[in-house]
Amino acid sequence: MTLPDHRTDTGCPYTRAQGSPLHGSAVAENPHSLYARLRAQHGPVAPVELEPGVEAWLVLGYQELLELTRNEQLFSKDARRWRVPQEGRLRADSHLIPMTTWRPTLQSMDGSAHHRLSAAVADTLARIDHKQLRETTEEAALALIESWGPDGTADLVTQFTRRLPLLVFTRLVDLPPEDGPRLVGLITDLVDSSKDSQPAAAEFFGLLMDLVISRRARPGADLVSWLAAHPAALSDEEMVHNLMVVLVAGNESVINWIGNAVRLLLTDRRFRTTLTGGRATVSDALDEVLWRDPPIQNFPGRWAVSDTVLGGQYISAGDMLILGLAGANDDPAAHGPDGISGNRAHLAWGAGRHVCPAQDPARLIVETAIETLLHCLPDLQLAIPAHELTWRPSPWSRALVSLPVLYSAFVPPRPDSPERTAWTPQTSSSPSSSTPSGPTSTPRTSGSAQAGRRHWWSSLVEWWSGR
Ligand code: HEM
Repeated sequence: MTLPDHRTDTGCPYTRAQGSPLHGSAVAENPHSLYARLRAQHGPVAPVELEPGVEAWLVLGYQELLELTRNEQLFSKDARRWRVPQEGRLRADSHLIPMTTWRPTLQSMDGSAHHRLSAAVADTLARIDHKQLRETTEEAALALIESWGPDGTADLVTQFTRRLPLLVFTRLVDLPPEDGPRLVGLITDLVDSSKDSQPAAAEFFGLLMDLVISRRARPGADLVSWLAAHPAALSDEEMVHNLMVVLVAGNESVINWIGNAVRLLLTDRRFRTTLTGGRATVSDALDEVLWRDPPIQNFPGRWAVSDTVLGGQYISAGDMLILGLAGANDDPAAHGPDGISGNRAHLAWGAGRHVCPAQDPARLIVETAIETLLHCLPDLQLAIPAHELTWRPSPWSRALVSLPVLYSAFVPPRPDSPERTAWTPQTSSSPSSSTPSGPTSTPRTSGSAQAGRRHWWSSLVEWWSGR
């Protein structure tokens, strides 16, 4: 099929419409109406503007998103194909650069090169012991909660969700206690795109390289050692780049998933009724968030290998396409006769070969963090009306700016007893557990083991409080 060039042929039925801004308040305030409007105006693939003069396609159709992620012959992960920088249209200070710079990671590769790195990362993540991960997450959550002041108030975003995943990850790579704060600080600078992000990236690379070299010499039971031992035989540099992806990709999405799920639990009566015998659980809230407010609402991206048509739109070679994860979840074609209930066919994890390889550990971290929070603070409630909560104006993340809460009672975890919270219906048959160790079945850490690691956590939490 010969396709017309929409850039020169104005009479063409595929002429590209002006892109709607995918930045600023439009994506923050009500992304669902933005996606509905784009779908009504343009169909399942909509032209958008990422920043002034930088266009892309937002893929909002459920079927079209599956096609985008499954057809790597047509839609590549290699950002070096992107026409915008090739044509000199990407500003040197563009906020898109960190997300779209090619690096030798699984996220930038197609075909067999991707398969090799993806197998190494997925096999490494699969070695995580879920019981230990649950204990680690619980201890991190508890250390954070105990660090709050005595006045019964907290901002769960700054004092809980933004800290917890990094604490857990530093433990998963088994950093020496003195290096923990450094790693946490570097990733925080990187993901905040602060003015320090360039030196932070270099220092982060150096810290991970030191870790890789030392674990090659003295392997332990941690992510770095497991990746080093994988038969894919990654070079030191490949190890560092791919560890960076694991740490950074996991951080932001886990933060947002915890925050969005706690917001739902605190604001929606269906979850509150569990206190009086209703059946909606934390796990139900997690699934609902993956449909309605996925932690990553849009994900860049794919780059067209050749001219093609997707969802009725003419796509030129080198065009950027964005995975409209939240928009595709809203697509009526995605919903069965009973809507989304009891159904995990959402696209929050992506799809195809690049689908998130960390779904089980991510769910376990998020579920344990929330269960611990609700157990320790059983009368937790929002400190402001729900409609006053605001969202970050990010085209990519679905993330609250803050989540102010009040509580009056602190209930310490019970050593060696199965976890239940007031929010977990006693009659539940634990529908949650996509993870082997469900929240109601795993014995908790013994008191002595917790005490032994207390020093490690408190040094990190204290360091953070002083920042
Ligand atoms: C422990 C936490 C997590 C880790 C370590 C992690 C790691 C990764 C990695 C390594 C990739 C790249 C896969 C590839 O390109 O082959 C990835 C992709 C992805 N992850 Fe995760 N992730 C985590 C949590 C999450 C969460 C909570 C979500 C959202 C619910 C999420 C959504 C995604 C999406 C949408 C992609 C992109 C898929 C694509 O490019 O097609 N991840 N993740």
